[in-house]
Amino acid sequence: MTVSSKMRAFNEKSSWIRRMFEEGARMKAEFGADQVFDFSLGNPDVPAPPEFDAALREAAAETGPGVHGYMPNGGYPWVREALAEQVSAEQGVTVSAAEVLMTCGAAGALNVVMKALLDPGDEVIVLAPFFVEYHFYVDNHGGVARVVNCDDKFQPDLEAIRAAINERTRAVIINSPNNPSGQVYDQATLDALGAVLDEEGRRHGNTIVLVMDEPYRSILFDGHEAASTLRASRNAIVLSSWSKELSLAGERIGYLAVNPEIDERGALLEALTLANRILGFVNAPALMQRVVARLPNVTVDSGIYARRRELFRGILDRAGFDYPLPGGAFYFFPKTPIEDDVAFCRLLQEQRILAVPGRGFGTPGHIRLAFSVPDEVIERSEEGFLAAMQASR
Ligand SMILES: Cc1ncc(COP(=O)(O)O)c(C=O)c1O
Repeated sequence: MTVSSKMRAFNEKSSWIRRMFEEGARMKAEFGADQVFDFSLGNPDVPAPPEFDAALREAAAETGPGVHGYMPNGGYPWVREALAEQVSAEQGVTVSAAEVLMTCGAAGALNVVMKALLDPGDEVIVLAPFFVEYHFYVDNHGGVARVVNCDDKFQPDLEAIRAAINERTRAVIINSPNNPSGQVYDQATLDALGAVLDEEGRRHGNTIVLVMDEPYRSILFDGHEAASTLRASRNAIVLSSWSKELSLAGERIGYLAVNPEIDERGALLEALTLANRILGFVNAPALMQRVVARLPNVTVDSGIYARRRELFRGILDRAGFDYPLPGGAFYFFPKTPIEDDVAFCRLLQEQRILAVPGRGFGTPGHIRLAFSVPDEVIERSEEGFLAAMQASR
């Protein structure tokens, strides 16, 4: 056998989005791309803003020895300075360059954090519905993911989290605005969660790190504001990327920032920096570091996603779906009208609509619909949603 049984099993587990992708490719070949309504992928289609093109040209024009060479594993010092300033303003907690690491996207940052925190068998709490890759990232570093369900509004259920904590719990990963639910956690929720982790950590004689994954931080609607995780917990790490905020998912650029008051700060920063190197990232891409440092507070126009959410909302309401309205990111996560989410996805496919079954995110009985697609794709899908709903009765 060439491939490990573990990877075979992982392939099976990660297959929902991939299956949808393959099904989409087959349907597009059969019916034509414009006849398929593909809401299965969270790949931003909004172009990066013009400021990005100018910054890229400027950074690319730089020449001289070492301009494309290795740098300290945590990133260029001046880039980390710039990020520290931005994170301090966003979080309301002063973070220095030493507490910021440039990473290969949010995914790279999550792996670096897990590598630094986990011994084999240590546990990490993830909240369902979840971003499926969390399981793999925890496992990559010998950890065990422990799933805790959110409440029915897809907000963290603090008592369920408390009940899941034990002496092996090292971290809780949260994500707001959330993929796949679109829900946003407010400051009171983060503060209360921070307090639970602090209390339980003390009770078990452990540090439980609150890890906030926030690559959708600036994609917010209805006056929602991004809360501060660093204010909510001394033992917190925030991480993010420009994958969604500047539509740079393929460029693999992100960062993490550690609360300066975190337990064992010095040893942790050393561990994170070494993890960045030995996981094979070595450092985040040099050119992209120089580009994003020139773009503090520049993001894609989240008004585009807000408009699409309204279009989709109208369609879902007219079709009779039940869902909590997304306050950010670009996903709806409605209940399916029949219990079997896979069967409902098949009904949608008959209408050439692609959605991902909720069981792929640990929450059956739902579907995820990504609205990172042009307005007209959403508009033209209405008939199909109405027909699938009708067929489910
Ligand atoms: C919740 C969440 N976390 C992390 C990532 C990974 O982001 P990046 O491309 O920056 O690695 C994604 C990407 O879709 C995501 O949705």
